[in-house]
Amino acid sequence: MRVSVVGQGYVGLTAAACLADQGHLVTGVERDPERLRSLQRGVLPFSEPGLPELVFGMTTEGRLRFVRACAEGPQPDAVVLAVGSPQLPSGGADLRQVSAAMAEILSLRESPAMVVVKSTVPPGTSSRLLTTDTRMNGRSLRERYVYSPEFLSQGSALDGWRNPARIVVGTETPSLLPLVEDLYRGIDAPWVLTTPTNAEMIKYASNAFLATRISFINEIANLCDEIGASVDDVIRGIALDPRLGGDFLRPGVGYGGSCFPKDTKALAHLSNLKGRAMPLLESVIAVNNAQRIRVTQLIDEELADRPGATIAVLGLSFKPDTDDIREAPSIPIVSDLLASGYRVQVWDPAVSGSVVETAYPGAVRFLNTRDAVEGAAAVIVLTEWPQVLAADWSELAERMREPRLVVDGRNCLDPNRLVPLGLRYRGFGRGLQTGAGTPLTLAEQAQT
Ligand code: UDX
Repeated sequence: MRVSVVGQGYVGLTAAACLADQGHLVTGVERDPERLRSLQRGVLPFSEPGLPELVFGMTTEGRLRFVRACAEGPQPDAVVLAVGSPQLPSGGADLRQVSAAMAEILSLRESPAMVVVKSTVPPGTSSRLLTTDTRMNGRSLRERYVYSPEFLSQGSALDGWRNPARIVVGTETPSLLPLVEDLYRGIDAPWVLTTPTNAEMIKYASNAFLATRISFINEIANLCDEIGASVDDVIRGIALDPRLGGDFLRPGVGYGGSCFPKDTKALAHLSNLKGRAMPLLESVIAVNNAQRIRVTQLIDEELADRPGATIAVLGLSFKPDTDDIREAPSIPIVSDLLASGYRVQVWDPAVSGSVVETAYPGAVRFLNTRDAVEGAAAVIVLTEWPQVLAADWSELAERMREPRLVVDGRNCLDPNRLVPLGLRYRGFGRGLQTGAGTPLTLAEQAQT
């Protein structure tokens, strides 16, 4: 099948490369001239494991090419729309890129047999688009329209495309299904066949539910800190119940990235517009924001007598294996620390120097963890990069200054390994670890 993928962001480029790998002849459409030039030179605008190699392979074999506009590529049988739907100041989704891309598709000389929208759009968007009953060369858009959301996770995008938990297909035209099957050829996953509106809601509800699990466990972790319980044991006990499971129950500084923060706010905004508040979801968002502030509170508590101390921040991206810092907890945390007068030394293996300069003004960047912690009274881990997990913490401890505090914002380190090295350890829901075994309650900690 000849497929054009409009929008070469993280979802669009992954889709384009994987569809080419599945045997389709793919044209990636990218309006941004700089991004397009870079793709045409074989340089990817973001980091994603395995994607550069796949893009190189597919372009070399002539199964993937990049152009500026749909009309510049070969006439497609199917168009996949994967442009951004960024957040508006109101919290709602900005759908201007979706509308512009749709107008471009509708103006093609020959209309494609199928238009598959993958951009995350608020429930009701497809339906609104289809009620205008836009015509493409005499046939209505409704007869060609599929909404099929994408559930990729950054850092494991290729695996997410090739082995999805499910494929959601929202359409009002069952005769399109053979074409959809052909598009997703080679992918073995259960299908959820439904309406476009339901498919849109599935995407938002999935992200909102995952975000809810994270905020829920963060609240439980905070209470564990108060009463001297260990959240790790609590999670083990919860996860063994098959009704609950253990995924997305890791406490810490909370969720970031391009999806959870934006999608939770957009869903709450949509519901408010309909006159229905979503107090549960609003609380999920509030708990997530508060987790970031907890880090600065912990530092202020522990370093009260050391104004202007040096603090090392290990990890800036919102998760490992990506250079993406969109809505990353590191942004408000670093700026709060700087505003409180601390000297902040940062390290991240993927985030570039120029991004650090613009997004973390005032922070000093180091190229390895050893140099970043030099002279630091506290280290804050904000991304569970393998380099941090495998670091020689005895060497890091030697390079640090009293009180040698480690704030583990991802609960990714083993306090039993760190405490014997003379480090003070603060995780989330793990109490203050002093090596005595059981975590201390906050009241007990105040006496140490
Ligand atoms: C998410 C969804 O998982 C994916 O299905 C959707 O398509 C896009 O949004 P992504 O943003 O790439 O994917 O990352 P994910 O691994 O879900 O993590 C999101 C954030 O939650 C990260 O900041 C991560 O550190 C945080 N997180 C995740 C936790 O704080 N605790 C957890 O238990 C899991």
